[in-house]
Amino acid sequence: MSEAQIVDGKAAALALRKQIAEKIAAFPLKPNLAVILVGNDEASLIYDRNKQKAAQAVGMDCHIYHLAEDASEREVIELVSQLNQDGRVNGILVQLPLPAHINPLNVLMNIAPEKDVDGFNPYNIGLLQANSPLAFVPATPKGILYLLKQVYADLSGKRAIIIGRSNIVGKPMAALLLNKNCTVTIAHSKTKEIEQIVREADIVIAACGKPKIVKAEWIKDGAFVVDVGINRVDGKICGDVDFDNVRLKASYITPVPGGVGPMTVAMLLVNTFEAFARQNHLHLD
Ligand code: GUN
Repeated sequence: MSEAQIVDGKAAALALRKQIAEKIAAFPLKPNLAVILVGNDEASLIYDRNKQKAAQAVGMDCHIYHLAEDASEREVIELVSQLNQDGRVNGILVQLPLPAHINPLNVLMNIAPEKDVDGFNPYNIGLLQANSPLAFVPATPKGILYLLKQVYADLSGKRAIIIGRSNIVGKPMAALLLNKNCTVTIAHSKTKEIEQIVREADIVIAACGKPKIVKAEWIKDGAFVVDVGINRVDGKICGDVDFDNVRLKASYITPVPGGVGPMTVAMLLVNTFEAFARQNHLHLD
C-alpha cells in the first residue's frame, strides 16, 4: 500500500510570500494592513502577531488595533469607519471571533468592500457566489484551492465534501469549488451518515474542529484530503483528520501543522497586495 503524498503548505506559502516581497520591493509605496483585535483570546493574539510578522516580512506596514474585551459594537464600527476613510490603509481585517456582545455581521458589513481583504463583507460574499473575479476570497479556502490546483489541472466534475459550514471556511470553500465545476456537499453536525458521503468524494475538506474524526475507512482510493482543523489534545496540536491512518489510504494529504495554516497567512498577504494594487491602479500580470 502506498502512502499519500504530503502536501507541503509551508513551502507553497513561502514561495508565494517571496513573490509578494519582490513585487513590493519594486514599488515605492508599501501596502498597509490594519488588523482589529477585540479582547484577549489567546489563539487570536497569536494568529494576529503571526499575520503582522508575515506582513512586515514581505515589506508591508501592519498595525494591530487592540481594543479591550468590553469595547462596544459602536466603538469597533467607528474604528472600522475611520480606517475605511484613511487613504494610507489598504486592507482591514477584523479578527474573529469577536466577544459575544458584538454581532460580527454588523461589524463586517461596515468594512469598505475594496479594503475587505478577508472577504467577509456580504458584498464580497455575494461577488464570490456570483463567480466574479472582483471578489476578495477568504484566505483559508483560497489557500486550499491553490493547493488543490497544484495537483489537479482541472477540478471539473470532481466530487467534494466539505465537513463544516462556517462562514470563514465551509461556505466560501463550497462556492469556490462549485465555481470550478465540482459537485459539492457540505456536511455538518446534523448530517446523517457522513462517512457514506466521504466514501464517494475525490476531495475531502475537514473543517469542523473535531480532533481526528475523519477516519481512514471513509476515504476513497486516490482522494485528496485537506485538514483545516487546529485542535489541542493533551497539549499537542492535531487536525480533524486521523492523519497517521488516513495517509495510508489517501493519495494526497495536508499535514497539521504545515498544511493549510501557512497558506491562510500567505493568501491574506496576496489579498492585501491585491487591494493595494487596485487602489493604486497598478496593472499586474
Ligand atoms: N478567525 C479564524 N480564521 C480567521 C480568518 O481567516 N480571519 C479572521 N479575521 N478571523 C479568523
